[in-house]
Amino acid sequence: MADLFEKISKNRGPLGMHAKESHGYFTFPKLEGEISNRMVFRGKEKLVWSLNNYLGLANHPEVRKADTEGAQSYGFGLPMGARMMSGESNLHNKLEQELAEFESKEDAILLNFGYQGMVSAIDCLVDRHDVIVYDSESHACIIDGVRLHMGKRFVFPHNDIANLEKQLERATKLVEETNGSILVLTEGVFGMSGDQGKLKEIVALKKKYEFRLFVDDAHGFGTMGKTGAGTGEEQGVQDGIDIYFGTFAKSMALIGGFIASDAQVIEYLKYNMRSQIFAKSLPMPLVIGSLKRLELLRSQPQLKDNLWKIVNALQNGLKEAGFEIGKTQSPVTPVYLNGSIPEATNLIYDLRENFDVFCSMVVYPVVPKGIIMLRLIPTAVHTLEDVKYTIECFSKIKNKLASGKYQAEKIVDVN
Ligand SMILES: Cc1ncc(COP(=O)(O)O)c(C=O)c1O
Repeated sequence: MADLFEKISKNRGPLGMHAKESHGYFTFPKLEGEISNRMVFRGKEKLVWSLNNYLGLANHPEVRKADTEGAQSYGFGLPMGARMMSGESNLHNKLEQELAEFESKEDAILLNFGYQGMVSAIDCLVDRHDVIVYDSESHACIIDGVRLHMGKRFVFPHNDIANLEKQLERATKLVEETNGSILVLTEGVFGMSGDQGKLKEIVALKKKYEFRLFVDDAHGFGTMGKTGAGTGEEQGVQDGIDIYFGTFAKSMALIGGFIASDAQVIEYLKYNMRSQIFAKSLPMPLVIGSLKRLELLRSQPQLKDNLWKIVNALQNGLKEAGFEIGKTQSPVTPVYLNGSIPEATNLIYDLRENFDVFCSMVVYPVVPKGIIMLRLIPTAVHTLEDVKYTIECFSKIKNKLASGKYQAEKIVDVN
């Protein structure tokens, strides 16, 4: 037998094991000042590429005004309960209706947090007779929802439609015995690699197999499709998505999320989703702030146009400069380099301290051993100058990496 605290004192987890050296710099860095392309890190201004403020709404004057007025008029306490008990309001209903209309669905339900909402929605939609089939690179909120599932789950390798078909065949055989149903889970835009889920191909499989499709479009909502309605719109298959999830935490630069679907599905979720029934309703200022952001997202297409101008310049520029950016088909821009974790930390330290560029670094176990992924999130408030400067800096650090300048035994000591 082991004491729990003693056990966790010895095993800090795959990321936590580096906490001592990395805390405050590589992990939990503090970005200060107004949310924009330039923010202050450890007392010095940096060009920042690691905020999911895709449309630049975080600091839009109308958004700031709506947020302030929402807080002034209602405070953050209201509503004082879960939706079902005492937390309902006309503004919550209005936001749900507008989101449903924007997503071409009958109805929508608000979520306090996207992550928690996804987990809970998956949990309440399926029972032990049902089978979940999901993409292997799904976000943690899908994986955690699947973990709660009492029935069978089959995983298909990322975007491998032939394998998905095999899993659907297996699942079909099983549910014929249990009299259950099949739920397919995937993402619109995969947040690390930036490639899109093959929604069109998945929807086409509905002709052959009976299943419902649930899509997490956290990164696609507001950025993809003609009107910004997301990856379903982008691929012309919004109708084929049975349950659509979006978060307010990225394009809307806020907190919260929603699920849009058929009216009867939304009613079912309202009465069965444990994360909504047993938790407080989204505070009024967040609802008011979301309504304003949604209005701007819909009425100001130039925000999305600006975003894509920066995305295209950045991704084309990186490719022309010889960088490997994988298969991205969205604003998410990964840059793949080869090196060890200590090299990655030296490289990021150099980039931040000597070039004043701040981006996120992703290493093993999120990407395979020996790969360093620099993840850039372009936004509508970046400039073409920012893009040019960043690519110049990246070329310099790439050369230094290749010539062994960042080689080290241990991760860099930043203190
Ligand atoms: C694909 C995906 N799904 C869900 C979430 C969770 O959303 P939220 O931040 O609203 O909890 C995220 C956010 O990181 C995400 O990237």
